[in-house]
Amino acid sequence: MAELTTKYLGLSLANPLIVGSSGLTDSADNILELEKAGAGAVVLKSLFEEQIMLEVDASLKEAYQNDMIYSAKSETLDYIDIHIRERTLSAYIELIKEAKKKVMIPVIASINCVSSAEWINFANYFEEAGADALELNIAILPSDEETEADKIEKVYFDIIEKVISRIKIPLSIKMSSSFTNLAQMIKRLSETGINSIVMFNRFYTPDFDINNFTEKSSNTFSTPEESGNTRRWMGIMSSKVNCDLAASTGIHSAEDLIKQLLAGAKAVQAVSTIYRNGKDQIQKMLGGLNQWMDEKGYNTIEQFRGKLSQEKTANPSAYERIQFMKYFSEIK
Ligand SMILES: Cc1cc2nc3c(=O)[nH]c(=O)nc-3n(C[C@H](O)[C@H](O)[C@H](O)COP(=O)(O)O)c2cc1C
Repeated sequence: MAELTTKYLGLSLANPLIVGSSGLTDSADNILELEKAGAGAVVLKSLFEEQIMLEVDASLKEAYQNDMIYSAKSETLDYIDIHIRERTLSAYIELIKEAKKKVMIPVIASINCVSSAEWINFANYFEEAGADALELNIAILPSDEETEADKIEKVYFDIIEKVISRIKIPLSIKMSSSFTNLAQMIKRLSETGINSIVMFNRFYTPDFDINNFTEKSSNTFSTPEESGNTRRWMGIMSSKVNCDLAASTGIHSAEDLIKQLLAGAKAVQAVSTIYRNGKDQIQKMLGGLNQWMDEKGYNTIEQFRGKLSQEKTANPSAYERIQFMKYFSEIK
């Protein structure tokens, strides 16, 4: 039996398979089940910066409309504002505390954010509640043609600078791959003092219902084919960064997990495959990893981690290839 332990974010994990932020990790009971199923760690369902702000806005609008009760200057509005924020926050803090009471595996709190605004003042609450680390899912779609690319990049650095000064627990950034120079962005982020980068977050994609001419949601769950983008950047960057890298998106099987480790990942996060196949999938993936390591004669993950990274592979140019020319010409 191989040894699957790994270090991620400075934390000791029994294995590198982390259940990513999702509805799977939104209650202490679920998290206990994931621990029993073998998860190395969990990232809690995110608290959304937008969610807090939207809730505040909606209630304030409602209150403003009822000017029989609340004048625009009334202090009641401030109380509503504070109360809503506390309710959302306190429920999240309760989740951290409860999860920490129930499980031994690391519990990573998560915030979905798009700015370095007020939510940052809450960062240390998660630490106080007992979270082992904090993961920030910074999700900015570069869709505004008026916004310079460096302005979007700056948001990441502003958030990190402010949050790092407020917490002592390890900090991780879950980032997008939509950058003009992704390699440079990953490298610069890794030099900010953060402990890990999760590559990559996965955006909701709008779809159409062509019969009703309406927009509909699609692709809630990933497919294994989506893991290629992460694999490329994991392989290119794993030997160049100053922090851990965790792989996310499209990791559905033991094979996917092994490939990310070979590219240099310290850990991987899985969500869709557990939704689709149930919690037993965790043991299947870990069993597959164990069996493969036994077959190849590896006792520890460090013996093969990064073996196929761009730095170590026999064919580094494969990572840079973006055209299919040769393959297309062979297809008749
Ligand atoms: C139902 C569902 C809920 C999710 N909720 C969150 C969330 O709250 N915060 C977050 O950062 N990511 C969230 N994600 C994204 C996942 O953490 C993950 O990044 C994404 O699903 C890609 O990984 P996968 O291919 O293993 O599914 C969610 C994904 C799903 C399917």
